[in-house]
Formats: sequence, C-alpha cells, structure tokens
Amino acid sequence: MPLSLLLLLLLASFSLSFSDPRISEAGIYCGATKTTNLIPAFIKEMESLSQLITTHHFATYHLTNSSPTIYTLAQCHHDLSQTDCLLCYAASRTKLPRCLPSLSALIFLDGCFLRYDNYSFYNESVSTQLDTVTCSASNVSIVGENERLEFNKSVGFAVGNVSKIAVRDGGFGTVEVKGVYALAQCWESVDRDGCRECLDKADKAVRGCGPKREGRGMNAGCYLRYSTDKFYDNVGETEDNHGLSGLGVIMAMVLGTAAFLMLSLLAAYAVYRKFAEIKQGRNSLGLISTSLSRSGLSFKYETLEKATDYFSDSMMIGQGGAGTVFMGTLPNGQNVAVKRLVFNTRQWVDDFFNEVNLISGIQHKNLVKLLGCSIEGPESLLVYEYVPNKSLDQFIFDNKKTQVLNWKQRFNIIVGTAEGIEYLHGGTQIRIIHRDIKSSNVLLDEDLTPKIADFGLARCIGADKTHLSTGIAGTLGYMAPEYLVRGQLTEKVDVYSFGVLVLEIVCGRRSSSFVENSGSLLEIVWRLFKSNGLAEVVDRSLYDDFPIKEVLKVLQIGLLCTQAAVALRPSMDQVVLMLTCKDCDIPIPNQPPFLNASALEPASPSRSYSTNSFISNAARKLEVSYSSSESSSVHSSDWPLRSRDLMQK
Ligand SMILES: *[C@@H]1O[C@H](CO)[C@@H](O)[C@H](O)[C@H]1NC(C)=O
Ligand SMILES: *[C@@H]1O[C@H](CO)[C@@H](O)[C@H](O)[C@H]1NC(C)=O
Ligand SMILES: *[C@@H]1O[C@H](CO)[C@@H](O)[C@H](O)[C@H]1NC(C)=O
Ligand SMILES: *[C@@H]1O[C@H](CO)[C@@H](O)[C@H](O)[C@H]1NC(C)=O
Ligand SMILES: *[C@@H]1O[C@H](CO)[C@@H](O)[C@H](O)[C@H]1NC(C)=O
Repeated sequence: MPLSLLLLLLLASFSLSFSDPRISEAGIYCGATKTTNLIPAFIKEMESLSQLITTHHFATYHLTNSSPTIYTLAQCHHDLSQTDCLLCYAASRTKLPRCLPSLSALIFLDGCFLRYDNYSFYNESVSTQLDTVTCSASNVSIVGENERLEFNKSVGFAVGNVSKIAVRDGGFGTVEVKGVYALAQCWESVDRDGCRECLDKADKAVRGCGPKREGRGMNAGCYLRYSTDKFYDNVGETEDNHGLSGLGVIMAMVLGTAAFLMLSLLAAYAVYRKFAEIKQGRNSLGLISTSLSRSGLSFKYETLEKATDYFSDSMMIGQGGAGTVFMGTLPNGQNVAVKRLVFNTRQWVDDFFNEVNLISGIQHKNLVKLLGCSIEGPESLLVYEYVPNKSLDQFIFDNKKTQVLNWKQRFNIIVGTAEGIEYLHGGTQIRIIHRDIKSSNVLLDEDLTPKIADFGLARCIGADKTHLSTGIAGTLGYMAPEYLVRGQLTEKVDVYSFGVLVLEIVCGRRSSSFVENSGSLLEIVWRLFKSNGLAEVVDRSLYDDFPIKEVLKVLQIGLLCTQAAVALRPSMDQVVLMLTCKDCDIPIPNQPPFLNASALEPASPSRSYSTNSFISNAARKLEVSYSSSESSSVHSSDWPLRSRDLMQK
C-alpha cells in the first residue's frame, strides 16, 4: 500500500513539474515616453525580482536613488507551481525588453504579469489607458442559436462566478461552468476593493467576447480569462501549495514503514530537481529560438557584461548603424567583439533574430565570423570573432601614412572583399545583401586578409524577389543611386558600393571628399578614364611601384561596378572572375552617376545613417529632380542611361 502511494506521488510530482508554465503572450503595452540610461537600473530590478520570485508568486522591487526611478512588479497566477512561476517570469523578462527604452511597459503572459514604470503603481486596479480585452479569433463550434445562447450564458456565469470567488478568496479563483473554464487573478498589491473594481470591469468586457472560444480581460490590477479548454492547474495538487505538506505526511508514513522507500523518494526528488533545473535553463534561453540554444550559440548576458568591463567606453571599438561594438575577453581568454543592439521597436527584435539565424550558418574566410549571441538579458548582443588589426579606412585614409599598403596587398584586399560579397550573394541557399559595404566595414587581420563586418543591415531576400523596397539605410558616398532615390534594393547595390571601395583603395582617397573644381572621386576617375590618363589618379604613396596594366584593369572594373544602369553592373561572381583571370576582356564602362556634391556631402564623411532626416531630404530632393527630368517610359528596373540629366553635374 505505501509503495503504490509513493508511486502515485512520484508520478504526480513529475507530471506537475512538467506542467505548462503558460508563457504564451496575451498582451504587451509599451509606454510612449522614451528615456535614456534606463538599462542598468532595468537589469538590476529584473535580477532582484528573479531572486524574489524563486520563493513567491508575487514580488515588487524599487531601486532607491536610481535615475530615472523605476518600480517593478511581477505576479504569477496562483495555480502555477513555483518552478512554472519562475519559467513564466523568465519568459516575460525576455520579452519585455522589446519595449526599451520606453519609460514604462507591461506584459501579460497567460501565467504571469510583469510591469515597470516610473511611479509606484502597485495598488492601481484599473486604468483607462492600459486596460484591454482580447477575444480569440475562432468561434466555439456551435450550430444552433439556442446552443449559442446557452454557451453565452455559461460564459457569463463562469466569469461572474470566478470574479466573486477571486474577490472572496484573496485574489485568485478558478471555476468551470458547463465546459467553460475561467480564471481570475488580482495582483497581491491590490486590495480587496481594488480587486473587485478591477474584476468587475474585466468581467463586463470579457462577456462581450460572446461566442468566441476564449476571452481575456487584462487590466492594470488583474487578469481574467475564460476558455473552452481547461488551461489552469488545480490548486491543491501543485507541489508548492498543498503538495508540499502532502509530501510531508507521506514522508512520515514512509519513514514509519521502510527506510529504503524514503531513500528512493529523496533520490527521485533529486532527479526531479535536476530535471526542473534543466528545464528552466533550456526555457529561459530557448524561448524565442530553441534552435539557437541547441546550436550552442548562446552566451550568458553576465559573461559578456564582464568580458566588456560592463560595456565601458574604453572597450568601445566601433559604432555601426545597428549598434555599438565593444571588445571583450571571455573567461577562457578569447578575444571577441560584442555588438550591442538597443531595440526600439518590434522590427529591431525581428531583425536581430533574423541576423543571428541568418549568419550563424555562414562562414567564409572573408567574412567576420559570428560566434553567438545573448538573448536572455535586457539587451540583445551579438558576439563576433575579434579581428585585431584596424579597419581598411584607417590604412588607406591615414594622413600620417604610418603603414602604407603596397599594390600586392591592396589587390589581395580587393579580391578578398569581392569573394566575401560573392559568397553573401550566392554562396549559400539564402541570398544576402549587405547594404553597407564601405572601407570601415572591411576589417584586416594580422595577415591583412580582409573580413567584411557588420551584417546589421543584412536582409535575406526570397529567391523570387528581384528587389526589396525598404527604408533607406547605408552610407552616403557608397549608395547606389537607385537605392538612394527609391530604396530599390538588389545585389547590385552591393556591387556599386564595392566599385566605390575599389576606386578608394586604388586612389587612396575617400569617395565622399570633394576636391575644388574637379568633383567627386567617381567623377575624377571617369574623366581620366575618358582621356586615357587613369595612371594619374593612382595613390601617390605607391610611388609608381605597381604593374600599370593590372591597376588600370582594376580601376576599369571599379567603374563597371559603379555604372548608373543597374543591369549593366556586373554580378559579384563576374567581378571575381575579371579580377582573377589574366587576359580577360574587360567591357568598357558606361558613365557613372554624378551625384550633386553639395546635396551629398555629409557632415562627417563616413558615418552610417539609418533613418536620418538629412538622407531623406537629400533623397526627396533627388526624387524630385529624378521625376522631373525623366519621361514615364523608363521602368524602375532600368536605371536611365541619361543619368547626366538626373544627377545635376
Ligand atoms: C514619470 O514620467 C512622466 C513622463 O515623463 C513624468 O511626467 C512624471 O513626472 C514621472 N513621474 C515620476 C514620479 O518621476
Ligand atoms: C495607492 O496608494 C497611494 C499611497 O501609496 C494612495 O495615495 C492611493 O490613494 C492608493 N490608491 C488606491 C487606488 O488605493
Ligand atoms: C463567429 O460568429 C459571429 C457571429 O456571432 C460571426 O459574425 C463570425 O463570422 C464568426 N466567425 C467565425 C470565424 O466563424
Ligand atoms: C454562478 O453560477 C451559477 C450557476 O452555476 C449561477 O446561477 C449564478 O448566477 C452565477 N453567479 C454569477 C455572479 O454569475
Ligand atoms: C452573447 O452573444 C452576443 C453576440 O452574439 C453578445 O452581444 C453578448 O454580449 C454575449 N454575451 C452574453 C453574456 O449575453
């Protein structure tokens, strides 16, 4: 008899420990006010809450003298086991940073609630701004009108009763009325009157869900849900409410009967704990992308925080369009580059996971390798291989000429970069457009092997699409005209940027710097090409120590890549072929687009912009001149050859 009891208990404890932590997202609200410097306080608050929530179902925390002030509250539904409560909290904590840097935010998962704000909101029960109701999309499968009314009535009874029960029983209740299951939970910081007020409001709202299978009322101080599925656990059977005292009783029985049975119970408990730990670890990291943690790409946020000396300014090595880059040293001594992405919108989060999934499988000698990422902390981080030498721009535009690259080195850099881009465009199943090829995104390792960095703007495009219309992001001076003016994005955008880069490497000058009376680099090279004087433009610091034929060939390829007509630009594999073959015929380039100097000179020559009013202004200006100078016969995929008209010289 005790043995079968014990078996039952073990079974129960296992099945309960693997019950559902209900982490599906029911609602999220991000405050409109944005702030700065919130992240350090946010991290501390979330850490403290996770300590408190290991032993309770409810916790609040307020860090005194933090600036800006921040108050946090976490509440698990009372039927969740302590383990599931932790899991649910971990999930909400992983999802809430989507709202950063909002000054306030809250998230309802189906098993818990998490909120932060800049004032003490703990006893708030209703709010005109925050309270919402959501009904499921699918109707209950009922044919007759009578049955529908019957169901409607059951819903009304269920939510009405469960609200009453919750108010009576200290803030939590569940009920079942004719196949309709309902749960109500008030936050523990809300008093009885507040709880009643809150649930009354939710009750009225949720009733309106009518014939829908599910409804959720989510207010400032409570949560109310009904469903035709039984979604909650029975309180009293869970291990942490009455389960533990039950365990004590049975332990005593077991002690009284046979010592070895108790030993096996303890052993089983240890196993259960182990399982719970594993489950917890897997869940908190793998919620968003289980494939990530399986692939071993996950880093702990704390590890990277320490590795970069808490993201100190002295460790900062770069600032890209998508985030700041820090150098870090992992506990095993390995140096890494950590890119810190601060999300403002849902879009950013999606981009981030895209990026990780996208480039973790991509490896090439001319691409900076992605080592992993961290997704469980308040910010998402990417970890790249650390490339010790400087970026290409620091070599070729160095006024002091501390280390001048000779022709052989420059040529190898050009070929390597071309191969890296070629791989991005066609080396894997997915096509990737880098969108921000420029000299500061080409890193050089000790052997001066080029490695393309910053895939932050990379997007994967479907094989069926020839171009994507996207927001303009990239760096002026490198941007292809069709992209700048219309946001039309194809691989040829990278080809154009690469062409500019080639001219820069050969000439040792920035494309975005203008020389009085001679115009942009592109313009100068083009004019000299027409007058057979290209040798003049080659970087003086090479002291004529170069094979002129090869240099001219490379310049010509650069001009081919920067042609105004998208269709005339070669693809990257053609570029690589032309660069590496000895006696190929290089086509004669057409005229590149000459962008108006004054419209395009940025304040600082090599900065990245993502959404910059300057760019949109410039683009708008160009769009105007584009439309006015062009007849309607030109289709968007054919960039007009009459670019002279468009790009007012
Ligand atoms: C919270 O932020 C809002 C909006 O910035 C501000 O008006 C309010 O004074 C702040 N409250 C506290 C307690 O700091
Ligand atoms: C909440 O508490 C504050 C004081 O902490 C009090 O001023 C306020 O009236 C309370 N609100 C409710 C709805 O009880
Ligand atoms: C659900 O029922 C409503 C009427 O009560 C109807 O208007 C709606 O189209 C139904 N939706 C679905 C998905 O069946
Ligand atoms: C609770 O449910 C019973 C039927 O199960 C019903 O008669 C009663 O009116 C309900 N109470 C409320 C407040 O809805
Ligand atoms: C019943 O369904 C109707 C719509 O079909 C809806 O307007 C009403 O609020 C629902 N709830 C109750 C309790 O009658």
